[in-house]
Amino acid sequence: MAAAGSAVGLGNVWGFPTQTASNGGAAFLLIYLLMMALLAFPMLVAELTIGRYGQSNPIASLRKIWVKNRLLATILGSTAMLTASMILSFYAILAGWLIGFALAPVLALVGLDSIANWLTTFGTGRNVLLTVCFMMMTVFVVRRGVSDGIEKWSSRLMPVLFVLFLILIAYIFTQEGATLGLEMYLIPDWSHVNGGLVVNAMGQAFFSLSLGVGAMMVYGSYLGKDVNIAKTAGQVAVIDTGVAFFAGLLILPAMFVAKNNGVQIFNEVGELISSGNLVFVVLPSLFQSMGMVGEVVGVAFFVLMVIAALTSSIAMLEVPVSCLQEETQIQRDKAALVLGGLILLLSAVIAANFESLFDWVATASTLYMQPLLGMCWAVVLGWVWSRKALLDEIKQGNPEIETSLFWRIWPWYVKFVCPVAILMVFVYPFV
Ligand code: PFF
Repeated sequence: MAAAGSAVGLGNVWGFPTQTASNGGAAFLLIYLLMMALLAFPMLVAELTIGRYGQSNPIASLRKIWVKNRLLATILGSTAMLTASMILSFYAILAGWLIGFALAPVLALVGLDSIANWLTTFGTGRNVLLTVCFMMMTVFVVRRGVSDGIEKWSSRLMPVLFVLFLILIAYIFTQEGATLGLEMYLIPDWSHVNGGLVVNAMGQAFFSLSLGVGAMMVYGSYLGKDVNIAKTAGQVAVIDTGVAFFAGLLILPAMFVAKNNGVQIFNEVGELISSGNLVFVVLPSLFQSMGMVGEVVGVAFFVLMVIAALTSSIAMLEVPVSCLQEETQIQRDKAALVLGGLILLLSAVIAANFESLFDWVATASTLYMQPLLGMCWAVVLGWVWSRKALLDEIKQGNPEIETSLFWRIWPWYVKFVCPVAILMVFVYPFV
């Protein structure tokens, strides 16, 4: 459940629909699903297996496999740790906006309209303040360890988010304009497919499954030896893809309904305006159209989203914290505070230079670093780790795997196909 919580987050509800809407709808959806099944899922099994074998932080786990080249293992593990921190630095800003949108209707209700307005209007002061709030929540949880509490919470609340999605989807289809969004989502227009779209779909799939940055290795290290890794990975991938699919089913139609109601969504040449915060324009306008009920639904929705974002951000912070704590023997408590503070500083720099830095940090860390690090893990698993040791590890919790079709294909697939395919996606636009 914690791994699923890490996977389900802003990537599903904000990243995926935004990318789908700006990349030709159904064409993006199909390529994304292919990327999930063909690259992200096999790599999720790989990361969880490396982590459970290592029983430690990503740096130490990689070193345990790559005994002959401990330096390179340390460098790669540290790069993953830095990338996780970079992702958290921009993620916390977005998650802060969610807090603002959750609080605003409540404040407006008690007459504090100007504060409510400030919280939902773009501005450096608001961005920084809400980021501080979100980082404090993240540090609070990580300091105590990914405790029972948060796992129980997320396993209870995630189904609520899912049901809320279904209700909102049913509602949106009673509105004028929704079917246009559905058409865009489900009828592919292949003219949009190009190298850039494939790179975007791959990055989005790696981001959505929290791959590359060591988060799934850390969570793998928390898995018991009686757990069937391939099955767990399958469940995480299905939950994650399901939530993203439903988010698209809500947000693309909602975009067209909003457009119908006079909200500007596209510019003169038909491109999405402000794709980055599209969701934050479309969803509030949807809730507003629902009247008083919409206020309640809106608050519930954003509160649940804050929790979804929190179960992802704790996974990100857990990566550097587990490394620092185990490599230097400092207490978890201190490690979480120090690293949380440093990442918050980075967030503040990004928030103060939003126009020039936000997109750059998000693109570099998710679109490029995550898949490229994933490629490194494929090389480590396929070429460095002995097949026998790998089998011994993955057999625990799933003794029949040795004779399964999965075992006949997967190790070979991760060894040859995954690294080449990831590299090709990057090289293709240039040839
Ligand atoms: N998978 C998360 C999402 O879709 O929002 C993002 C994420 C979580 C990325 C944890 C990386 C990570 F380590």
